[in-house]
Formats: sequence, C-alpha cells, structure tokens
Amino acid sequence: MKPAKKSVLKVRRAPLIETELTVPADKSISHRAILLSAISNGCCTITNFLEGEDCRSTAQAMRQLGVVIETPEPGTVLVEGNRGIFSAPDGDIDCGNSGTTMRLMAGLLAGQNFRCRLTGDASLSRRPMRRVMDPLHEMGARLSTEGERQCPPLVVTGGPLEAITYRLPLASAQVKSAILLAGLFAKGRTTVIENARSRDHTERMFDYYLVKCRREDVWEGNARVGRRLRESRISIAGGQIPESRDFRVPGDISSAAFWLVAAAAREGARLLIKDVGLNPTRTGLLDVLVRMGAQIREVVESAAHGEPSGTIDIKGCQLHATEIRGAEIPNIIDEVPAIAIAAALAEGKTLIRDAAELRVKETDRIAAVATNLRAMGVEVEEFPDGLAITGGRPLKGALMKSFGDHRIAMAFAIAGLFATGETIIEDADCVQTSYPGFAETLARIQKGKGIRRRTPVISSLDGKSQKKKAAK
Ligand code: S3P
Repeated sequence: MKPAKKSVLKVRRAPLIETELTVPADKSISHRAILLSAISNGCCTITNFLEGEDCRSTAQAMRQLGVVIETPEPGTVLVEGNRGIFSAPDGDIDCGNSGTTMRLMAGLLAGQNFRCRLTGDASLSRRPMRRVMDPLHEMGARLSTEGERQCPPLVVTGGPLEAITYRLPLASAQVKSAILLAGLFAKGRTTVIENARSRDHTERMFDYYLVKCRREDVWEGNARVGRRLRESRISIAGGQIPESRDFRVPGDISSAAFWLVAAAAREGARLLIKDVGLNPTRTGLLDVLVRMGAQIREVVESAAHGEPSGTIDIKGCQLHATEIRGAEIPNIIDEVPAIAIAAALAEGKTLIRDAAELRVKETDRIAAVATNLRAMGVEVEEFPDGLAITGGRPLKGALMKSFGDHRIAMAFAIAGLFATGETIIEDADCVQTSYPGFAETLARIQKGKGIRRRTPVISSLDGKSQKKKAAK
C-alpha cells in the first residue's frame, strides 16, 4: 500500500531479529530489463519487475517513445521489442527521481534521429549530466542541459554515431551503460575502459539477450605480491539487435542491506534473506560486514538469466570498526548509508574514503548521514570524500529528515531499531523509489513478528566469520 503523501516512519527499539525475508526486485536490473526488452526483436515477459517509482519512470519513458508495454499483473511486464527504432515523443520525458533512467536513456536516444527533452524532479535536477554528455558528444550526438552546472533538463538530439574508446574518469555503471547502449547504434566497435569494476548488469544482460559484448581484464602484480585489477575493457560492436527473451529479476541486495545491517549489529540475531541477487559487483556489503565481525554464508542457487542469485544467512554480533576505500567503493556505493549505521553500532572508528560520488546521489549522502548520525548522538567527522564514524555509544532516538532520499530514510529507520526512545523519519514517501513495502516489513520486525523461519539454516555458522559461496 502506498503511504499517504509526506508520510513519516516511526520506529522504536526492536526485539531480536530471528526471521526469514525476501526483498523487492533489483532496481538496477529492472531498469535494464525494460530497456533491453524494448530494443529487442520481439515480445519479452519480465517477471518480478520492481514496481518502484524509479523503474516505473523507465517504463513510462519507453511508452512515450512508442514501445508497447503491458502489465497484466503486478510485477509482470510484457514488452514488445521495437528493434531499436523509437518514435519521437509528444512532450518531455519525465525521469522522476531516477538518475539511472535519465543517464541510460541518454545513451539510447543518442542514436535516434530526433530531439528529446528529459526532465526530473528537484533532486534529479541537481545531478550532474556532463559525465554522459562528454562521451556521447564524442560519438556524434548533440546534448545540452538547461540547468546550472550541466544539470537537467537534458536535451538529446540524436543522429548517426561513430564508435569510440572511452576511459571512464570515475567508476560509474550508469555512464558505462549509457556508452554501451549508444554503442549498439554506432558504426564500429565501442570500448569503455574502467579502472575499478562497477556493477556489470548491462554486460550480463547483453550476454543473456545474445548481444556480443566482450570484457578483457588487465591485471598488475603477481601471485607473490598480490594481483590487482589495473583496468577492464568492455567493448561492443554496433548494429546488433538483442534477441527477445523472458527475464526474471532477482531481489535487490541494496534493499536487503538494511535488514542485513539490522541483523549483523545485534548479538544473537539471525536472518535469512532468500532469492536475492548475488552479483559479485554488488556484494561488497557482505565483505564489509564480515570484516566487522558478522558471520555470513552466501549461497548462489541460480544463475538463470545471467544473474547469480540465492540466499544470504547472517548471524549478528558486537561489530567492530573497519576501513572502506579505493576499488571497494563502487561495490558498496548504494550501501554506504546502511554501512554508516553498522559503523555507529560498532566498537571503534570506521573510516569511509574515496566516496565523493556520494555527494551527488539523490541527496548529498555524506552530509545527510553526518547530520542524522549527530542527531542520534554519534561522533562523526566529515571529509570531502567520506566519513569517520566513532561507534559503540548507545543511539538516541531523534526526529530526522530523509532529505527526500530513499536510502537515507531506510538507513535511519534501521538505526531507530537500536535507539532509545522514538525515532521519526520525516518525508518518508521516498522509500517508494526502490522499496515498496518497506514500512510494512519494518512494522513486522518491530513487533517481533517476522515471518517464522521455515527453512533450516544452510549450515552451522558457529565458529569464525566466513563468507562462503557455493555455486550450484
Ligand atoms: C546504478 C549505478 C550507480 C548506483 C545507482 C544505480 C545503475 O550509480 O549508485 O543507484 O543502475 O547503473 P553510478 O553509475 O553513478 O555509480
């Protein structure tokens, strides 16, 4: 049920979590499933599609461009592929709050022979678009922005494209995906080079829809000193049309993150999350929580449709501080608000650096996390590219803002499960962006009424911390 406008989340300290959950479908994968199906050569059925506002923006954008999309039942979407030939929309395309919609759409529209104006809400209108404009210009499209400092509205005038080789100045799956999608419409072979691996859903989905997309990893170092990824080169030849396929979206590990932190940080808690995406470019949170002392078992049960998914079994404890920086950041970029709560509950000082990207997400997440943690009595130091959080002191319930950011709202609702008194998160409608049903699950967990564990635990988690994978 959609909460009334300007809803609040009210939270009190919760009993021990001992439950089993599933989470809504993956947001990044849902966007891409719509886009790839839309340009395929036939009818595609997407199941377990995320009915969140961001993915609806993508579906609506496709409809405006002439793609026939039906939703016979919630979570099921039928898309009639158009072989990459769109029709010019009547008016502006409203991307709502979704940066992924705007940036990926820019890539798709770059090769169309019409002009299209992409708009967004107040938050999206403050997000930088130069990162997609530069490479798409180089390919031959014309893009301009109407906002200050190259922010939306974004006007894309597409046309014939030439392939390019482009080194990403920052690790960004959205920029990489925009270039690869444009590359499908370009003459020649387009190559994107990334220095740290960002999420690879687009590449996996190309593979699944039988579009040839090559990845070459270049390593440095050796077995003795340790190997480190120097760069990945991802390339695609233009002129390919995705083969229509049916696709099922797994659960979103970024949504699971909130419950994983809630369980990890409480001694004796035990949580099983099923049918969740376990793509290794998205599971950095599990590594972080293991370093902080949680015991985790991760079992890949399916790799159907190109995306690994399965079960995460987690056992909580008194967490301790860790450091997160460098190449690990793209892997946990959406999980930092949740990790900040784990840090506030952990003994010692947790350091998060190299994460300046957080300043230009749905809100400035570094500032928002620092403000809200301080309101709960936590000592926080803010850097241009991160945070130092000294944890271990009891959290105080507080009245806090979501800053219109779904992940800030949910992270601080989880903090409220550990705090004294009442925690109130204002302006919580934004959770609908990625997690319809969050408030209901939160209410169940607060009352200690989690779904009773039905599945036997995968194996004993007693003993030292572990993060094991078992591919079927
Ligand atoms: C996303 C990529 C990430 C992530 C965002 C979704 C995607 O953004 O933060 O929530 O679906 O490609 P960047 O590409 O800007 O890192």
